[in-house]
Amino acid sequence: MSMADEPLILGIETSCDETGVGIVRGHTLLADALASSVEEHARFGGVVPEVASRAHLEAIVPTMERALAEAGVTIADIDAIAVTSGPGLAGALLVGVAAAKGYAVAAEKPVYGVNHLAAHVAVDTLEHGPLPEPSIALLVSGGHSSLLRVDDLARGVTPLGSTIDDAAGEAFDKVARLLGLPFPGGPWIDREARAGDGGAIAFPRGLTAAKDLAAHRYDFSFSGLKTAVARWVEARQRAGEPVPVADVAASFQEAVCDVLVGKALDACRTNGIGTLVIGGGVAANSRLRAMAEHRAAKHGIRVRVPRPNLCTDNGAMVAALGSHLVSSGVAPSRLDLPADSAMPLTTVSV
Ligand code: KG4
Ligand code: ZN
Repeated sequence: MSMADEPLILGIETSCDETGVGIVRGHTLLADALASSVEEHARFGGVVPEVASRAHLEAIVPTMERALAEAGVTIADIDAIAVTSGPGLAGALLVGVAAAKGYAVAAEKPVYGVNHLAAHVAVDTLEHGPLPEPSIALLVSGGHSSLLRVDDLARGVTPLGSTIDDAAGEAFDKVARLLGLPFPGGPWIDREARAGDGGAIAFPRGLTAAKDLAAHRYDFSFSGLKTAVARWVEARQRAGEPVPVADVAASFQEAVCDVLVGKALDACRTNGIGTLVIGGGVAANSRLRAMAEHRAAKHGIRVRVPRPNLCTDNGAMVAALGSHLVSSGVAPSRLDLPADSAMPLTTVSV
């Protein structure tokens, strides 16, 4: 297929606090417009659903117009519209889904309701080309942490394991809060940790003991780690000693990355799969990227991680998955496609 024959796909993302509209042609990114309401949530220490919904409502049309202008196309040029159908915040999803339906009807375009988590995997194709199948995917965001086997990204993925309590990003955000760092905490921990020693404090590695591996080989648990960090910090404060924020951040980050990378590479080796793709906001973490590449190289496993601004929520990821669905001959969704806050990981499109 020549470039001009490849589908021109517009993707809309509104599942959490980022209003994203991306446009791709095949695997080529043409536009990635983003409006964030993160500042409005910062003082609450977490995303406030009603505030997010209203912000999406205000941002969706301007973001749409910015993306079209950036790509130098009009809505008439678009071959299909993809939109995050779930999982995410119900009211926030509804704004994107309603907008996608409106544009689809007005411009007579097919619409694909897609899974946000599968989109976090698909976005890597914009940077590294088609994903070899099978691959192992490590999905680490604010709301989800999962290991998947990807045999056919257009039609279904096989969950191998997931978190049994907090998501990896949630753990970053909670630990950042107890260290007095702003929300969302992941990027702040990442930054603080650069000045610290990841080996300074031996924090626990959840579900890695021999007794846990039988039932939870590919599952994660971060709530014990978060509690261990809280106890350690409290003990310092009680003793009237300063809290070495950089060392705590680095040691916590080391514990999270150690478990994520260890389990992901175990899944690759056990399944005889040579490609690990990492997606979701936590994939932006500099230590996770470096550790995964370093350890994978020893086993001849290739690690694919998109650049940091494609890891966090954006519209390009939705367009990337839409493009893959169109190229794979998957049928569009019905016009009454839902906003499904609890969309299962195994449903790639509705
Ligand atoms: O994928 P995402 O943008 O939204 C969800 O779908 O949840 O992920 C957001 C999460 C937040 O918890 C944020 O703290 C975390 O990703 N995050 C990071 C980094 N950048 C974002 N965590 C660790 N290190 C980072 N550099
Ligand atoms: Zn996400």
